[in-house]
Amino acid sequence: MDLHEKVAVVTGSGRGLGLAYAKGLAAAGAAVVVNDVDAATAEAAAKEITDAGGRAVAEVAAVGATEAAEALVGRAVAEFGRLDVMVTNAGVLRDKVLWKMTDDDFDTVVQVHLKGTFTCARAAAVRFREQGEGGRLILVGSPAGQRGNFGQTNYSAAKAGIIGFVRTWAMELARNNVTVNALVPVAATAMTETIPFLAPYVQALRAGEPIPPFIRRALAFGSPEDAAGLVTFLASDASAGITGQAIGIGGDRLSLWTHPVQTVAGYAEGGWSADAIADAWPTIFAAHEQSVGEKLPQPPASPASPASPASPAAS
Ligand SMILES: NC(=O)c1ccc[n+]([C@@H]2O[C@H](COP(=O)([O-])OP(=O)(O)OC[C@H]3O[C@@H](n4cnc5c(N)ncnc54)[C@H](O)[C@@H]3O)[C@@H](O)[C@H]2O)c1
Repeated sequence: MDLHEKVAVVTGSGRGLGLAYAKGLAAAGAAVVVNDVDAATAEAAAKEITDAGGRAVAEVAAVGATEAAEALVGRAVAEFGRLDVMVTNAGVLRDKVLWKMTDDDFDTVVQVHLKGTFTCARAAAVRFREQGEGGRLILVGSPAGQRGNFGQTNYSAAKAGIIGFVRTWAMELARNNVTVNALVPVAATAMTETIPFLAPYVQALRAGEPIPPFIRRALAFGSPEDAAGLVTFLASDASAGITGQAIGIGGDRLSLWTHPVQTVAGYAEGGWSADAIADAWPTIFAAHEQSVGEKLPQPPASPASPASPASPAAS
């Protein structure tokens, strides 16, 4: 992939998956605006890229507000003259079950993930339309948004909403040759270290040990770098025409998610009364009821896999 003509913004790219995306884009030749709310990690990430011969600058901003989004797009244009790729990766967790979740827990997660994706994508779309040469919106979903996850009211709703953005914006921006896709990643990062079942693998990776093949394949859980190739591909001309997709990436697995479709329908002339629904449900609908949550395979017993995955794997 040759991205030398491209300019990208990657939000939340001071560490974790965002850093891997930024490094991957820069290694392919793109100029990158690294962003993080944490100044030290943002500056260190940009330095790591430039030390390796890449082009990068750091823009410290808390993604969510319109001003932050406009600062990011403005910085790309001021430093590198244009914008081609917006990767909306910044994220936080505030996990609690519904009955314990505070308004602040809810608002914080929705502000960074859902509003941050909206404001950054909108600022990028305005710029893409001005330039008139297409563009790439690369959003970030989650298995929790696709399937639901215990303890993640705020996060699963925000991530499901981001896939809703993909479906709508792919239609709205098609005429402008702007593609809109989402990654649904899984990777060993500070975020997944907060999940007890996955923490040992995150710590092992940090200590330089490989992630076991079962975990890489069956759980699709690998390093952040394992997810970076998909961002570089989506940023490149090789992905022209691919839009509206939610693409799973992690460990050894690349996958394509479905969008919801009606699975079964019944018809009653004049409409459905409560009694008619009660009569029809067992015969027409019951067999088609949908499952929720991720069904994870059981890992083989080993010292490195201390517990069976009682709760879903990844954020
Ligand atoms: N790690 C996984 O398995 C996984 C799974 C599904 C989805 N994701 C998503 O991938 C993205 C990256 O996750 P990660 O695992 O690398 O997490 P991480 O916590 O390692 O990194 C997130 C980065 O975002 C930054 N950030 C937080 N709020 C910000 C804000 N308002 N503005 C700018 N930067 C901000 C943090 O400082 C941090 O550097 C997130 O959107 C996350 O929800 C991760």
